[in-house]
Amino acid sequence: MPLASGCFPMASTSPEGLPSSQQLQQAADCLKAGKLVVFPTETVYGLGADAKNPAALQDLYRAKGRPTDHPVIVHIASPDTLKDWAVEIPDIAYALAAAFWPGPMTLILKRARQVPDAVTGGQETVGLRIPQHPVALALLQAFGGGIAAPSANRFGRLSPTRLEDVEPEILEASGCALEGGPCPVGVESTIVDLSGPHPVVLRPGMVLPAELEAILGQTLPLRPAQWKTRASGTLPSHYAPQAPVRLLSTGSVVSSLSLHLKDGLKIGVLAYEEPLTGLKVSQGGAVRWIKCPSEPQAYAQALYANLKKLDREACDEIWVELPPEAMAWEAVHDRLQRAAATPHPQQIERVSP
Ligand code: TXA
Ligand code: MG
Repeated sequence: MPLASGCFPMASTSPEGLPSSQQLQQAADCLKAGKLVVFPTETVYGLGADAKNPAALQDLYRAKGRPTDHPVIVHIASPDTLKDWAVEIPDIAYALAAAFWPGPMTLILKRARQVPDAVTGGQETVGLRIPQHPVALALLQAFGGGIAAPSANRFGRLSPTRLEDVEPEILEASGCALEGGPCPVGVESTIVDLSGPHPVVLRPGMVLPAELEAILGQTLPLRPAQWKTRASGTLPSHYAPQAPVRLLSTGSVVSSLSLHLKDGLKIGVLAYEEPLTGLKVSQGGAVRWIKCPSEPQAYAQALYANLKKLDREACDEIWVELPPEAMAWEAVHDRLQRAAATPHPQQIERVSP
Protein backbone atom coordinates (compact mmCIF):
# COMPACT_ATOMS: atom_id res chain seq x y z
CA MET A 1 0.00 0.00 0.00
CA PRO A 2 1.61 3.30 -1.05
CA LEU A 3 1.92 5.60 1.93
CA ALA A 4 3.57 8.99 2.24
CA SER A 5 6.27 9.50 4.81
CA GLY A 6 4.69 9.94 8.22
CA CYS A 7 1.69 7.86 7.19
CA PHE A 8 1.86 4.59 9.02
CA PRO A 9 -0.35 1.75 7.85
CA MET A 10 -1.04 0.47 11.34
CA ALA A 11 -0.54 -3.22 10.65
CA SER A 12 -2.62 -5.00 13.21
CA THR A 13 -0.88 -6.58 16.17
CA SER A 14 -3.91 -8.03 17.96
CA PRO A 15 -5.36 -11.51 17.31
CA GLU A 16 -8.70 -9.94 16.28
CA GLY A 17 -6.92 -7.90 13.58
CA LEU A 18 -7.70 -4.60 15.33
CA PRO A 19 -5.23 -1.82 16.18
CA SER A 20 -3.43 -1.92 19.53
CA SER A 21 -4.11 0.76 22.16
CA GLN A 22 -0.71 2.26 21.31
CA GLN A 23 -1.70 2.56 17.64
CA LEU A 24 -5.03 4.12 18.64
CA GLN A 25 -3.17 6.65 20.77
CA GLN A 26 -0.86 7.44 17.83
CA ALA A 27 -3.92 8.02 15.64
CA ALA A 28 -5.49 10.27 18.30
CA ASP A 29 -2.20 12.20 18.48
CA CYS A 30 -2.32 12.63 14.70
CA LEU A 31 -5.79 14.20 15.02
CA LYS A 32 -4.57 16.46 17.84
CA ALA A 33 -1.66 17.56 15.62
CA GLY A 34 -4.15 18.61 12.92
CA LYS A 35 -3.50 15.61 10.63
CA LEU A 36 -6.07 13.44 8.89
CA VAL A 37 -6.77 9.85 9.96
CA VAL A 38 -8.44 7.08 7.96
CA PHE A 39 -10.52 4.96 10.34
CA PRO A 40 -13.21 2.26 10.11
CA THR A 41 -16.83 2.79 11.05
CA GLU A 42 -19.59 0.18 10.84
CA THR A 43 -20.92 1.85 7.65
CA VAL A 44 -17.85 2.84 5.58
CA TYR A 45 -14.28 3.99 6.27
CA GLY A 46 -14.11 7.66 7.26
CA LEU A 47 -11.45 10.31 6.65
CA GLY A 48 -11.28 12.04 10.02
CA ALA A 49 -10.12 15.46 11.19
CA ASP A 50 -10.40 17.35 14.46
CA ALA A 51 -13.85 18.94 14.03
CA LYS A 52 -12.74 22.03 15.96
CA ASN A 53 -9.62 22.67 13.82
CA PRO A 54 -10.43 24.76 10.70
CA ALA A 55 -6.96 24.19 9.17
CA ALA A 56 -7.35 20.40 9.47
CA LEU A 57 -10.84 20.68 7.96
CA GLN A 58 -9.42 22.62 5.03
CA ASP A 59 -6.93 19.77 4.44
CA LEU A 60 -9.83 17.32 4.64
CA TYR A 61 -11.80 19.09 1.91
CA ARG A 62 -8.67 19.37 -0.23
CA ALA A 63 -7.83 15.65 0.19
CA LYS A 64 -11.35 14.67 -0.86
CA GLY A 65 -11.58 17.21 -3.66
CA ARG A 66 -14.92 18.14 -2.15
CA PRO A 67 -16.64 21.54 -2.51
CA THR A 68 -16.35 23.49 0.73
CA ASP A 69 -20.10 24.17 0.97
CA HIS A 70 -20.78 20.44 1.52
CA PRO A 71 -21.15 19.84 5.27
CA VAL A 72 -19.40 16.95 7.02
CA ILE A 73 -20.70 14.69 9.79
CA VAL A 74 -19.19 15.06 13.26
CA HIS A 75 -18.60 11.75 15.05
CA ILE A 76 -18.99 11.95 18.82
CA ALA A 77 -18.49 9.51 21.69
CA SER A 78 -21.60 10.10 23.79
CA PRO A 79 -25.05 11.75 23.58
CA ASP A 80 -23.93 13.83 26.58
CA THR A 81 -21.74 15.85 24.20
CA LEU A 82 -24.61 16.71 21.80
CA LYS A 83 -24.90 20.06 23.57
CA ASP A 84 -21.33 20.96 22.56
CA TRP A 85 -22.42 20.89 18.93
CA ALA A 86 -26.15 21.59 18.76
CA VAL A 87 -28.80 23.85 20.26
CA GLU A 88 -32.58 23.52 20.74
CA ILE A 89 -32.16 19.73 20.76
CA PRO A 90 -35.65 18.17 20.64
CA ASP A 91 -36.57 15.25 22.91
CA ILE A 92 -36.97 13.04 19.85
CA ALA A 93 -33.25 13.47 19.17
CA TYR A 94 -32.47 11.84 22.52
CA ALA A 95 -35.08 9.15 21.87
CA LEU A 96 -33.54 8.29 18.48
CA ALA A 97 -30.04 8.44 19.98
CA ALA A 98 -31.06 6.02 22.73
CA ALA A 99 -32.56 3.63 20.17
CA PHE A 100 -29.92 3.71 17.41
CA TRP A 101 -26.62 4.99 18.82
CA PRO A 102 -24.01 3.79 18.61
CA GLY A 103 -25.11 2.93 15.10
CA PRO A 104 -25.63 3.86 11.45
CA MET A 105 -27.82 6.95 11.94
CA THR A 106 -26.88 10.64 11.63
CA LEU A 107 -28.99 13.39 13.18
CA ILE A 108 -29.15 16.88 11.68
CA LEU A 109 -29.68 19.45 14.42
CA LYS A 110 -29.45 23.23 14.77
CA ARG A 111 -25.77 24.06 15.13
CA ALA A 112 -24.18 25.58 18.19
CA ARG A 113 -22.47 28.91 17.52
CA GLN A 114 -18.93 27.60 18.12
CA VAL A 115 -19.14 24.86 15.44
CA PRO A 116 -16.72 25.84 12.65
CA ASP A 117 -18.31 26.89 9.36
CA ALA A 118 -16.05 24.37 7.67
CA VAL A 119 -18.03 21.58 9.39
CA THR A 120 -21.47 22.90 8.55
CA GLY A 121 -20.66 24.11 5.05
CA GLY A 122 -21.90 27.49 6.25
CA GLN A 123 -25.38 26.10 7.04
CA GLU A 124 -27.28 26.62 10.28
CA THR A 125 -27.31 22.90 11.04
CA VAL A 126 -24.81 20.22 12.01
CA GLY A 127 -24.79 16.45 11.35
CA LEU A 128 -23.86 14.23 14.31
CA ARG A 129 -23.49 10.53 14.92
CA ILE A 130 -22.03 7.98 17.34
CA PRO A 131 -20.53 5.17 15.25
CA GLN A 132 -20.74 1.56 16.36
CA HIS A 133 -17.39 0.21 15.18
CA PRO A 134 -15.13 -0.64 18.17
CA VAL A 135 -12.10 1.02 16.49
CA ALA A 136 -14.05 4.24 15.81
CA LEU A 137 -15.33 4.30 19.39
CA ALA A 138 -11.85 3.64 20.79
CA LEU A 139 -10.40 6.42 18.60
CA LEU A 140 -13.09 8.83 19.80
CA GLN A 141 -12.28 7.93 23.42
CA ALA A 142 -8.54 8.37 22.89
CA PHE A 143 -9.02 11.67 21.03
CA GLY A 144 -11.56 13.11 23.44
CA GLY A 145 -13.28 15.43 20.95
CA GLY A 146 -15.50 15.38 17.88
CA ILE A 147 -14.11 13.85 14.68
CA ALA A 148 -15.39 15.34 11.44
CA ALA A 149 -15.39 12.52 8.93
CA PRO A 150 -16.81 12.14 5.48
CA SER A 151 -16.36 8.81 3.73
CA ALA A 152 -12.67 8.19 2.91
CA ASN A 153 -12.97 8.53 -0.87
CA ARG A 154 -12.33 11.22 -3.44
CA PHE A 155 -15.48 13.29 -4.08
CA GLY A 156 -18.01 11.37 -6.19
CA ARG A 157 -16.25 8.01 -5.97
CA LEU A 158 -17.26 4.85 -4.11
CA SER A 159 -17.00 4.87 -0.33
CA PRO A 160 -14.43 2.30 0.85
CA THR A 161 -15.70 -0.53 3.02
CA ARG A 162 -12.26 -2.18 3.38
CA LEU A 163 -8.96 -0.46 4.16
CA GLU A 164 -7.46 -1.88 0.97
CA ASP A 165 -10.16 -0.05 -1.03
CA VAL A 166 -9.07 3.41 0.23
CA GLU A 167 -7.56 5.29 -2.73
CA PRO A 168 -3.79 6.00 -2.57
CA GLU A 169 -4.38 9.78 -2.81
CA ILE A 170 -6.47 9.66 0.38
CA LEU A 171 -3.84 7.60 2.23
CA GLU A 172 -1.08 9.93 1.06
CA ALA A 173 -2.97 12.91 2.48
CA SER A 174 -3.44 11.16 5.85
CA GLY A 175 -1.27 11.04 8.95
CA CYS A 176 -2.26 7.41 9.49
CA ALA A 177 -4.79 4.74 8.64
CA LEU A 178 -6.40 2.33 11.08
CA GLU A 179 -7.36 -1.23 10.09
CA GLY A 180 -10.79 -2.40 11.19
CA GLY A 181 -11.66 -5.19 8.77
CA PRO A 182 -14.61 -5.06 6.38
CA CYS A 183 -17.35 -2.61 7.47
CA PRO A 184 -20.33 -4.68 8.67
CA VAL A 185 -23.08 -2.36 7.35
CA GLY A 186 -21.47 -1.36 4.05
CA VAL A 187 -23.54 1.71 3.06
CA GLU A 188 -23.52 5.17 4.63
CA SER A 189 -25.67 6.09 7.63
CA THR A 190 -29.36 7.00 7.50
CA ILE A 191 -29.55 10.80 7.82
CA VAL A 192 -32.53 12.17 9.78
CA ASP A 193 -33.07 15.93 9.76
CA LEU A 194 -34.55 17.12 13.05
CA SER A 195 -33.84 20.82 12.47
CA GLY A 196 -37.21 21.62 10.87
CA PRO A 197 -40.83 21.37 12.04
CA HIS A 198 -41.03 17.64 11.14
CA PRO A 199 -38.40 14.87 11.00
CA VAL A 200 -37.28 14.11 7.44
CA VAL A 201 -35.00 11.36 6.14
CA LEU A 202 -32.37 13.05 3.95
CA ARG A 203 -30.45 9.89 3.02
CA PRO A 204 -31.77 6.33 3.29
CA GLY A 205 -29.56 3.85 5.11
CA MET A 206 -29.87 0.57 6.94
CA VAL A 207 -31.81 2.13 9.84
CA LEU A 208 -35.18 1.92 8.10
CA PRO A 209 -38.06 4.46 8.10
CA ALA A 210 -40.34 1.97 9.90
CA GLU A 211 -37.76 1.61 12.71
CA LEU A 212 -37.49 5.40 13.03
CA GLU A 213 -41.27 5.79 12.99
CA ALA A 214 -41.62 3.26 15.81
CA ILE A 215 -39.49 5.52 18.03
CA LEU A 216 -40.84 8.84 16.75
CA GLY A 217 -44.46 7.75 17.17
CA GLN A 218 -45.30 9.45 13.87
CA THR A 219 -45.09 8.65 10.20
CA LEU A 220 -42.27 10.18 8.23
CA PRO A 221 -43.18 12.10 5.09
CA LEU A 222 -43.01 10.08 1.91
CA ARG A 223 -39.52 9.88 0.54
CA PRO A 224 -38.74 12.59 -2.01
CA ALA A 225 -39.14 11.46 -5.60
CA GLN A 226 -35.40 11.08 -6.13
CA TRP A 227 -35.39 7.93 -4.01
CA LYS A 228 -38.00 6.15 -6.05
CA THR A 229 -36.33 3.99 -8.66
CA ARG A 230 -35.61 6.17 -11.65
CA ALA A 231 -33.91 5.69 -14.96
CA SER A 232 -30.17 6.15 -14.79
CA GLY A 233 -28.70 9.47 -15.76
CA THR A 234 -31.17 11.61 -13.83
CA LEU A 235 -29.61 11.63 -10.38
CA PRO A 236 -26.55 13.55 -9.31
CA SER A 237 -23.54 11.31 -9.74
CA HIS A 238 -22.23 9.95 -6.48
CA TYR A 239 -20.86 6.73 -5.08
CA ALA A 240 -19.71 5.85 -8.59
CA PRO A 241 -17.18 3.28 -9.81
CA GLN A 242 -14.94 4.10 -12.80
CA ALA A 243 -16.84 1.89 -15.24
CA PRO A 244 -20.30 3.01 -16.37
CA VAL A 245 -23.05 1.23 -14.44
CA ARG A 246 -26.17 -0.04 -16.14
CA LEU A 247 -29.21 -1.12 -14.14
CA LEU A 248 -31.20 -4.07 -15.45
CA SER A 249 -34.62 -5.25 -14.43
CA THR A 250 -34.78 -8.47 -12.46
CA GLY A 251 -34.23 -11.56 -14.55
CA SER A 252 -33.04 -9.74 -17.67
CA VAL A 253 -29.25 -10.06 -17.36
CA VAL A 254 -28.78 -13.18 -19.48
CA SER A 255 -31.09 -11.98 -22.27
CA SER A 256 -29.38 -8.55 -22.29
CA LEU A 257 -25.95 -10.15 -22.47
CA SER A 258 -27.11 -12.28 -25.39
CA LEU A 259 -28.08 -9.08 -27.18
CA HIS A 260 -25.24 -6.70 -26.26
CA LEU A 261 -22.10 -8.71 -25.50
CA LYS A 262 -19.67 -8.23 -28.32
CA ASP A 263 -16.04 -8.83 -29.23
CA GLY A 264 -13.55 -7.09 -26.98
CA LEU A 265 -16.17 -6.00 -24.41
CA LYS A 266 -15.72 -7.06 -20.80
CA ILE A 267 -18.88 -6.81 -18.72
CA GLY A 268 -18.95 -7.13 -14.95
CA VAL A 269 -22.26 -8.40 -13.58
CA LEU A 270 -23.80 -8.17 -10.10
CA ALA A 271 -26.76 -10.50 -10.19
CA TYR A 272 -29.05 -12.85 -8.28
CA GLU A 273 -29.14 -15.26 -11.12
CA GLU A 274 -26.68 -18.12 -11.13
CA PRO A 275 -23.62 -17.36 -13.27
CA LEU A 276 -24.40 -17.43 -16.95
CA THR A 277 -27.42 -19.72 -16.71
CA GLY A 278 -28.46 -20.40 -20.26
CA LEU A 279 -26.05 -17.86 -21.79
CA LYS A 280 -24.11 -18.95 -24.82
CA VAL A 281 -20.91 -16.86 -24.78
CA SER A 282 -20.30 -17.14 -28.50
CA GLN A 283 -19.84 -13.41 -29.10
CA GLY A 284 -16.21 -13.26 -28.02
CA GLY A 285 -16.79 -10.83 -25.18
CA ALA A 286 -15.91 -11.52 -21.57
CA VAL A 287 -18.17 -11.66 -18.54
CA ARG A 288 -17.12 -11.42 -14.88
CA TRP A 289 -20.12 -12.57 -12.86
CA ILE A 290 -20.60 -11.87 -9.15
CA LYS A 291 -23.58 -13.58 -7.59
CA CYS A 292 -25.01 -11.21 -4.94
CA PRO A 293 -26.63 -12.09 -1.63
CA SER A 294 -30.44 -12.12 -1.83
CA GLU A 295 -30.88 -10.54 1.59
CA PRO A 296 -30.61 -6.70 1.85
CA GLN A 297 -28.13 -6.44 4.78
CA ALA A 298 -25.69 -8.88 3.19
CA TYR A 299 -26.13 -7.26 -0.24
CA ALA A 300 -25.45 -3.77 1.18
CA GLN A 301 -22.44 -5.01 3.14
CA ALA A 302 -20.78 -6.35 -0.01
CA LEU A 303 -22.01 -3.73 -2.54
CA TYR A 304 -19.11 -1.23 -2.69
CA ALA A 305 -16.44 -3.93 -2.39
CA ASN A 306 -18.09 -5.80 -5.28
CA LEU A 307 -18.20 -2.68 -7.46
CA LYS A 308 -14.54 -1.95 -6.62
CA LYS A 309 -13.64 -5.54 -7.53
CA LEU A 310 -15.22 -5.17 -10.98
CA ASP A 311 -13.45 -1.83 -11.47
CA ARG A 312 -10.09 -3.40 -10.58
CA GLU A 313 -10.69 -6.15 -13.08
CA ALA A 314 -10.99 -3.45 -15.75
CA CYS A 315 -14.57 -4.17 -16.77
CA ASP A 316 -15.76 -1.86 -19.55
CA GLU A 317 -19.25 -1.74 -18.07
CA ILE A 318 -20.90 -2.93 -14.87
CA TRP A 319 -24.39 -4.38 -15.15
CA VAL A 320 -26.49 -4.69 -12.03
CA GLU A 321 -29.67 -6.75 -11.77
CA LEU A 322 -31.99 -4.52 -9.72
CA PRO A 323 -32.99 -5.85 -6.28
CA PRO A 324 -36.65 -5.97 -5.18
CA GLU A 325 -38.59 -2.69 -4.70
CA ALA A 326 -39.09 -3.21 -0.95
CA MET A 327 -38.41 -0.74 1.87
CA ALA A 328 -35.56 -2.86 3.24
CA TRP A 329 -33.76 -2.32 -0.09
CA GLU A 330 -34.20 1.47 -0.20
CA ALA A 331 -30.59 2.32 0.71
CA VAL A 332 -29.23 -0.18 -1.83
CA HIS A 333 -31.51 1.21 -4.56
CA ASP A 334 -30.44 4.76 -3.72
CA ARG A 335 -26.73 3.92 -4.04
CA LEU A 336 -27.24 1.91 -7.23
CA GLN A 337 -29.19 4.74 -8.83
CA ARG A 338 -26.44 7.18 -7.95
CA ALA A 339 -23.72 4.84 -9.20
CA ALA A 340 -25.60 4.55 -12.50
CA ALA A 341 -26.10 8.32 -12.74
CA THR A 342 -22.51 8.97 -13.83
CA PRO A 343 -22.74 10.44 -17.29
CA HIS A 344 -20.52 8.10 -19.28
CA PRO A 345 -20.92 8.55 -23.04
CA GLN A 346 -21.12 4.83 -23.72
CA GLN A 347 -23.86 4.23 -21.14
CA ILE A 348 -26.75 2.24 -22.55
CA GLU A 349 -30.36 3.02 -21.63
CA ARG A 350 -31.92 1.00 -18.84
CA VAL A 351 -33.67 -2.12 -20.15
CA SER A 352 -37.35 -2.43 -19.23
CA PRO A 353 -38.87 -5.80 -18.35
O1 TXA B 1 -22.01 6.51 7.41
C1 TXA B 1 -21.67 7.67 7.26
O2 TXA B 1 -22.45 8.62 7.44
C2 TXA B 1 -20.20 7.94 6.86
C3 TXA B 1 -19.30 7.49 7.99
C4 TXA B 1 -17.85 7.82 7.73
O3 TXA B 1 -19.74 8.06 9.18
N1 TXA B 1 -20.01 9.30 6.54
C5 TXA B 1 -20.49 9.85 5.41
O4 TXA B 1 -20.11 11.17 5.26
O5 TXA B 1 -21.16 9.27 4.60
P1 TXA B 1 -20.21 11.94 3.88
O6 TXA B 1 -19.58 13.27 4.14
O7 TXA B 1 -19.66 11.14 2.79
O8 TXA B 1 -21.73 12.18 3.73
C6 TXA B 1 -22.34 13.01 4.64
C7 TXA B 1 -23.66 13.46 4.13
C8 TXA B 1 -23.52 14.42 2.98
O9 TXA B 1 -24.47 14.07 2.01
C9 TXA B 1 -23.84 15.75 3.60
O10 TXA B 1 -24.44 16.63 2.70
C10 TXA B 1 -24.79 15.37 4.73
O11 TXA B 1 -24.27 14.16 5.20
N2 TXA B 1 -24.73 16.34 5.83
C11 TXA B 1 -23.75 16.52 6.72
N3 TXA B 1 -24.03 17.57 7.52
C12 TXA B 1 -25.22 18.03 7.12
C13 TXA B 1 -26.06 19.11 7.52
N4 TXA B 1 -25.70 19.92 8.50
N5 TXA B 1 -27.20 19.29 6.87
C14 TXA B 1 -27.57 18.48 5.85
N6 TXA B 1 -26.83 17.45 5.41
C15 TXA B 1 -25.68 17.24 6.03
MG1 MG C 1 -19.41 10.24 1.03
